[in-house]
Amino acid sequence: MILVTGGLGFIGSHACIALRRAGHKLAIVDNLANSKLAVLERIRDLAGGDVAFHRADIRDATALAAIFGRDPVEAVIHFAGYKAVGESVAKPLDYYENNIGGTFVLLKTMERYAVRRIVFSSSATVYGDPQRLPLTEDHPLGAVNPYGRTKQFIEVILKDRAIGSPEFRHATLRYFNPIGAHPSGRIGEDPRGIPNNLFPYVTQVAIKRLEKLRIYGNDYGTVDGTGVRDYIHVMDLAEGHLAALKFLLDKDRSITVNLGTGRGNSVLEVVNAFERVTGIPIAREFAPRRQGDVASCYADVSLASRELGWQTKLGIEDMCRDAWAWQSANPRGFPE
Ligand code: NAD
Ligand code: UD1
Repeated sequence: MILVTGGLGFIGSHACIALRRAGHKLAIVDNLANSKLAVLERIRDLAGGDVAFHRADIRDATALAAIFGRDPVEAVIHFAGYKAVGESVAKPLDYYENNIGGTFVLLKTMERYAVRRIVFSSSATVYGDPQRLPLTEDHPLGAVNPYGRTKQFIEVILKDRAIGSPEFRHATLRYFNPIGAHPSGRIGEDPRGIPNNLFPYVTQVAIKRLEKLRIYGNDYGTVDGTGVRDYIHVMDLAEGHLAALKFLLDKDRSITVNLGTGRGNSVLEVVNAFERVTGIPIAREFAPRRQGDVASCYADVSLASRELGWQTKLGIEDMCRDAWAWQSANPRGFPE
């Protein structure tokens, strides 16, 4: 059985469908801190098979031990954690406690039950301000906010754990900017409150929940002055987890690897693609740069291609189409 922490969240839910469809037996553990139970039924429908669910907090060692004790766990895919950059600046202790504390309890429980494979959700945010592009995995790390630092610290903990016990293996996946949704439009990104990230903001302007997009900065040294990012379709990302799991089960080592497309798109390119695909105009205005933003960030994806045999298949227009399928069918997100 594969144990998926945070499997009801945005990326976890898509990954669970890919894993189940590939024949893996799954159990999800999630405390619903940032997700809703309605996701579970939709995962089960779309995955075409049973998926076990435990409502529990991964910081709860007793609850976690009960889950590990029930069914042998072959590997863990670890999505659970908090992820809002601004909130992490305001509440750093909550971020250190949940992200690092949760991972610590999980790793101790894995040790107790002799589970030695973990796929971990890291982020391109660990690179901080890029010194050179595209970003290769050996680029110096320098997260610039508490959220990013939790990812950086967890990466170190995983490396130390692997040094201490060579049979322990991790696949640390540095995601770039995941967007899009399952093509059915039944699951997708459902942020609480006003979205901080570009894509959910755009789709909420499209359904008229928000009035207009503010584009943060049009004076960067990029193709059109707006910020450039490596947007990756969440279905491609989900497949990346399958490839990482296979790597861990087949090969005798750990890996830290970028998951992106290797291509950057500017904010204006994204907004224009969305308009082209959906036919819906997106009201927008230019605003000052957002603090902490970098001009450009995109991945070198050659390691993922070489080691995992994985590469993305979907482009920005697919991301726009599928995000819109989700948002238009679920204007208020998942039901309570
Ligand atoms: P998400 O918030 O949608 O999903 C995280 C899930 O974990 C939620 O369902 C939440 O309820 C659960 N959770 C949180 N703390 C928990 C705890 N203590 N015990 C049990 N469950 C808990 O986030 P996401 O976008 O799906 O991201 C998944 C992972 O990928 C996170 O670790 C995130 O930091 C990382 N990541 C996300 C992005 C992104 O842009 N979405 C980019 C890079 C890395
Ligand atoms: C942000 C986080 C990053 C995290 C990632 C998760 C910051 C500084 N970085 O990345 O740590 O891993 O989310 O996906 O918060 N933009 C607008 N208007 C908006 C929103 C965004 O113009 O309303 C622009 C931004 O300036 C940026 C681009 O859109 O150029 C992408 O922004 P966003 O989706 O927030 O992602 P990142 O900033 O790359």
